[in-house]
Amino acid sequence: MILVTGASGKTGRAVIAALAARGAGVRALVHRAEAGAGVLAAGAKEVVVGDMLAADTLLAACRDAAAVYHICPNMHTGEVAMAEALLAAMAQASVKRLVYHSVLHPQVEAMPHHWRKLRVEELLFTQDVQWTILQPAAYMQNVFAYWQTIVEEGVYRVPYAVTARLGMVDLEDVAAAASLVLLDGGHAYAIYELAGPEILDQVQIAAVLTQQIGRSVRAEAIDGTQWAENARRAGQSAEAVATLRRMFEYYERYGFYGNSTVLRALLGREPATFAQVVARQAASTI
Ligand SMILES: NC(=O)c1ccc[n+]([C@@H]2O[C@H](COP(=O)([O-])OP(=O)(O)OC[C@H]3O[C@@H](n4cnc5c(N)ncnc54)[C@H](OP(=O)(O)O)[C@@H]3O)[C@@H](O)[C@H]2O)c1
Repeated sequence: MILVTGASGKTGRAVIAALAARGAGVRALVHRAEAGAGVLAAGAKEVVVGDMLAADTLLAACRDAAAVYHICPNMHTGEVAMAEALLAAMAQASVKRLVYHSVLHPQVEAMPHHWRKLRVEELLFTQDVQWTILQPAAYMQNVFAYWQTIVEEGVYRVPYAVTARLGMVDLEDVAAAASLVLLDGGHAYAIYELAGPEILDQVQIAAVLTQQIGRSVRAEAIDGTQWAENARRAGQSAEAVATLRRMFEYYERYGFYGNSTVLRALLGREPATFAQVVARQAASTI
């Protein structure tokens, strides 16, 4: 049985589906009981409900697990504390294998959620577990959070300059890589950057959307303050909004991209292009 933490988010569901597709048994740790149905539908066999900071929850989740795939909730300020609590539960349950879902360029101190992941990576080096660290770029699927406006209004709005260049990765490729490092062996003590095959600015992203959905889509930069107000109204915490704004500022100033060679080698095939991922999304929704 493989324990997947943070299981009910988009990453967790994708990783569960990739593991289940290869016949692996998955135990999903979810925060709230209502999330159980979603992870079972994704392919999990068992569900544990509770807080990722609670020792008893983590111990119940770790019991008899062969390995853990650890996904911290996005931008959680308790990321290091969650990792510490998980490692303590793993030690108590004698679980010796951990794959940590980190992020591309955790070294960037200007993005607090990246910096916290670097601290967790550093912690892993000191532990008596066989760790593997995956460092995915931003997911191509993040663009689909704005799918309705893209399809209905023909506008792709981003809270940074449209010249910002991103090297996004297909979440399904990330999940496939996660399943193979967990199931195939030979990946202990490896750190893998998982980036997609292209670096695209926002105008190029809009051009791919135009091509794939068959209507004209233009990229438009929206004001960061306005974006933050909308995000607060939509229920995002002040901390999350502040962290995201720092990320957007970083994207605008430096871009955010890596190299796809490692992902290509792991998968044994070309990682998906943005056009392929949009075509998949369009086929399932339009
Ligand atoms: N998005 C990207 O492009 C990208 C790229 C690289 C890496 N990452 C990393 O991928 C990770 C996962 O992101 P995601 O968007 O898939 O996940 P997410 O939806 O933010 O979080 C996963 C789940 O964690 C649960 N959760 C929140 N607080 C919890 C707690 N105290 N105890 C137990 N569970 C809790 C949430 O459930 P509830 O909603 O029920 O609380 C949520 O469903 C993040 O660490 C992110 O930094 C993301």
